[in-house]
Amino acid sequence: TDFQAFSYQILRWYHENPRDLPWRGTRNPYKIWLSEIILQQTRVAQGLPYYENFVNKYPTVQDLANAPEEEVLRLWQGLGYYSRARNLHFCAKYICTELNGKFPESYEGLLKLKGVGSYTASAIASFAFGEAKAVVDGNVFRVLARYFGIYTDIASGKGKKQFEALADEIIPRDMPDEYNQAIMDFGARQCTPTNPNCTECPLKSNCFAYTNELTKVLPVKIKK
Ligand code: ADE
Repeated sequence: TDFQAFSYQILRWYHENPRDLPWRGTRNPYKIWLSEIILQQTRVAQGLPYYENFVNKYPTVQDLANAPEEEVLRLWQGLGYYSRARNLHFCAKYICTELNGKFPESYEGLLKLKGVGSYTASAIASFAFGEAKAVVDGNVFRVLARYFGIYTDIASGKGKKQFEALADEIIPRDMPDEYNQAIMDFGARQCTPTNPNCTECPLKSNCFAYTNELTKVLPVKIKK
């Protein structure tokens, strides 16, 4: 199908453009959760040293749960959006006291954690537990809107639903984790918001936006 051709090309691009990041190649839900919370509103380059500091200081969810809140907030200093750090600490304590120190193992269960939305729940469910839930962030909206020619406003509830449904159809059942990492990187480094590298893109011949010269138009985002 068209979806298979798409996911195959995304995976192939990823294998030729690998990025070695410390939270890849682990299935530890704690480390994946930590990295995804840090990366929610923070760029990879800025988040990297914070991730390393947290993992060194708190190697397990128990270590984080046992830490004083002031210490956690101090380690977070400079990242901003401090509610993320407070939720992190709150969840660590909750997981240790209420869930026997074990993370929920499904998308639905993960979604119930404070500070974990659909994006982060999909990331943890796929990377840690191999569940076929697609991550949908700004990068994924852009790649899908351009490639498949979708004009729905990505800032609308309808758009979020439509793109999530499409993304969940596309995601390969046998390697959801790798595909999610791949499409994130493809959006961040190849199919960029401005000046995407279309001339060297392996998906260009079937890309709606490229073939119709619409990369400046798609995705559609209507300001509120
Ligand atoms: N941004 C959010 N999650 C990420 C991940 N797992 N890898 C790279 N960038 C990300």
